[in-house]
Amino acid sequence: MAFLNVVDRDGSRHTLETVEGWRVMELLRDQKMGVEGSCGGACLCASCHVIVAPEWVEKLPEPRTDELEMLDELPVIEPTSRLACQIIWSDELDGLTVRIAEAA
Ligand code: FES
Repeated sequence: MAFLNVVDRDGSRHTLETVEGWRVMELLRDQKMGVEGSCGGACLCASCHVIVAPEWVEKLPEPRTDELEMLDELPVIEPTSRLACQIIWSDELDGLTVRIAEAA
């Protein structure tokens, strides 16, 4: 089993169980981390905005254009902002750490 580390909006840390092939958004949503995922992962709502720990950025696939465009519509982003629905979990990501962004 590989694990996803999460810092929630209150600053509390969590270690979540994961499922190979699931979107990180789905892992966060289903384990009640306060991520709505209202567009179902279609890259249309940005409710799954997370900030990736800097040491993990290079280990993730590059964001696609539609993800970058959606992030650009947010009032506040950080250099390592990503949409969690665009990160597909694989056990190679064991230990990935993300912080849930404030709701836009
Ligand atoms: S769930 Fe809507 S953009 Fe990620």
